Amino acid sequence: MLPLILLAAAAGAQAQSSATYPAGVLASGTMGTMNPPSATLGTSINQTSGSRLVSINAIDDFCLFGPPDPNTVIGDSEAYEVAWCTKARNNARVIPDGVITGVSLLKTDMYVQLMGYGDLTQINIAAGDYGGELDPHGATGDGNPVGGNVTTNMTTGTDTSYQEWMMYVSYEQFCFRICTNANSTYSSEYMCWHELDEMGCQFVMPGNYDINGTFESCDADVAYPPGWYPTSTSDGTTLFSTFAQFYEGVYTSDGTPVSYTVGTTVTPESAYFTPSSSNCQTVSTIANGIDVVAGSSTGSDAGAIDATGSSGSSGTGSSGSGTTAASGESSTSSGSNSGSARFALDSGVVGAAGAILVAALGGVAVLL
Ligand SMILES: *[C@@H]1O[C@H](CO)[C@@H](O)[C@H](O)[C@H]1NC(C)=O
Ligand SMILES: *[C@@H]1O[C@H](CO)[C@@H](O)[C@H](O)[C@H]1NC(C)=O
Ligand SMILES: *[C@@H]1O[C@H](CO)[C@@H](O)[C@H](O)[C@H]1NC(C)=O
Ligand SMILES: *[C@@H]1O[C@H](CO)[C@@H](O)[C@H](O)[C@H]1NC(C)=O
Ligand SMILES: *[C@@H]1O[C@H](CO)[C@@H](O)[C@H](O)[C@H]1NC(C)=O
Repeated sequence: MLPLILLAAAAGAQAQSSATYPAGVLASGTMGTMNPPSATLGTSINQTSGSRLVSINAIDDFCLFGPPDPNTVIGDSEAYEVAWCTKARNNARVIPDGVITGVSLLKTDMYVQLMGYGDLTQINIAAGDYGGELDPHGATGDGNPVGGNVTTNMTTGTDTSYQEWMMYVSYEQFCFRICTNANSTYSSEYMCWHELDEMGCQFVMPGNYDINGTFESCDADVAYPPGWYPTSTSDGTTLFSTFAQFYEGVYTSDGTPVSYTVGTTVTPESAYFTPSSSNCQTVSTIANGIDVVAGSSTGSDAGAIDATGSSGSSGTGSSGSGTTAASGESSTSSGSNSGSARFALDSGVVGAAGAILVAALGGVAVLL
């Protein structure tokens, strides 16, 4: 029975040197073919770049994936999104100043998480598109986008490639988690679980989303992996039930179509809790002063970063449902999602793995 996940005995804190990273945390393969060999600040600006290398290093130094061509729906372009960065870096495109209107950047023991708002039609997302979910798995196993890679230096001080990440994006909101560590309780794959693509930012990556108009970076506690809910404690060990998004599909086995069902018909309203944040630093702008409308740099990096204030937010219990457009439906739902999907289904991922999950999750009525 899968719903109760037994936790092994504590293995102790994990130091974050590459020698001691748990298996599956560091990316072990090569960079996508259109990416530079490593994350590099100060590369020349190319607003038609095909680079798919995202770095999330600081409140004013991060990238998002977005479509290469204007007015594109994320669901249609998942496999070929490109990197858009707040600074000239990674041979990637530059996000024009003023596009990003609010950001919260969290550093935790298990992941780095970026949440924000902006006019993302300016990085080519179609107006009104409620978007979708990107991750390193995808239909081909080489990621959505294919060849997409993700680094951060917030953990080690040097740009490090991590294997597991997830990004949700719509025309006006985004959230991005890089899973930078793991232990015997949480694998990086569970902490960046990529099969809840209809649930939205606040469910999958709980945090303070009341940040449009502000730019803050904070330390934060670790959330439960997306869809995990504690049920009880046994010998000091927490047991969890897991929520799987309801999905019906068909896969082919030896040329024969086989239908399958994954997940439950009762959708939880919210993540179990919103982790506390602390030590928040606020800046007034993340502007870079680069004139990308004209397609050329004005030269100096004019971004004024005024550190002001320090604050934190206390965690809430089971938090309310999302008010943001990209949040999932907060009511219960039943039956197939196919008619009402607000986030594009990542059918390639569900595919054959879904068939395996049927046995494990079938009939598991979830919680709340
Ligand atoms: C794994 O890390 C999480 C988050 O820091 C922590 O709550 C949990 O106790 C850790 N598990 C082990 C076995 O150390
Ligand atoms: C690049 O992404 C691919 C696909 O997710 C992955 O297999 C590979 O390890 C990544 N390489 C680096 C250096 O991040
Ligand atoms: C910009 O990127 C595109 C796509 O990768 C490439 O074809 C083009 O040569 C690049 N332009 C410059 C000036 O590097
Ligand atoms: C990460 O890189 C940025 C430049 O991209 C630099 O300003 C920052 O100090 C670095 N962070 C750490 C923790 O070394
Ligand atoms: C965020 O703020 C900007 C600027 O005030 C506004 O145009 C935009 O609609 C807001 N986004 C959301 C999702 O509320």
